[in-house]
Amino acid sequence: MARTLISIGIILMVAGCINVYDERPDTTDRGYEWHDPGYMYPAQYDSMTDPNIITDFSSNGEMIYYTGLNENRQEIPVSGGPHWLYVHGGSCVSCHGVDGKGGVPIMMGTVIPSDITYEVLTSEEDHEDEHEEHPPYTDETISIAIREGKDPSGEELDYTMPRWDLSDEDMEDLIEYLKTL
Ligand code: HEC
Repeated sequence: MARTLISIGIILMVAGCINVYDERPDTTDRGYEWHDPGYMYPAQYDSMTDPNIITDFSSNGEMIYYTGLNENRQEIPVSGGPHWLYVHGGSCVSCHGVDGKGGVPIMMGTVIPSDITYEVLTSEEDHEDEHEEHPPYTDETISIAIREGKDPSGEELDYTMPRWDLSDEDMEDLIEYLKTL
């Protein structure tokens, strides 16, 4: 009897361990996904192989927005921005969100990511941010903001916004994608 109990105990312990090690952190139950603004560990999973993560992007621009890689899987060279971007990876989506509307503070950020939907960037109306007024963005000045971190009046954007060294083709595709948000 004692032996049987010990055996059952051992089996349960082993099963318990297997279960513990088998369990992966479940991000979906918390209603908070790797692509939400501020989620710190987008590259905790290998986003290129995890079947739960969409890798079928419908355009090059969308792929860059989500992954920081272009359709040839080349990493877009980036500088500035918070340290975690380099440790965990991430791209526009990590800060500006799935809908491009930003508005959510991010870790180690000193300003809140702005709304970068094309419509808002190019509208005549004042943007609600801490910057002085500037003329509406055009495709040309959007690309300067992304590459050099300057707004249309030449004012430097906060360092929280990384600088992305995109090729002309990738930039065009990315701006096309911002138009769909
Ligand atoms: C680490 C967070 C972060 C990432 C990643 C990021 N941004 Fe930003 N972005 C910001 C913040 C914060 C601002 C606001 C800067 C400011 O107000 O000075 C900003 C501003 C901008 C602006 C200027 C908007 C305005 O209102 O003047 C554009 C355009 C932009 N981001 C595009 C992008 C694109 C495209 C990507 C991806 C290639 C990207 N950002 C990735 C944080 C980020």
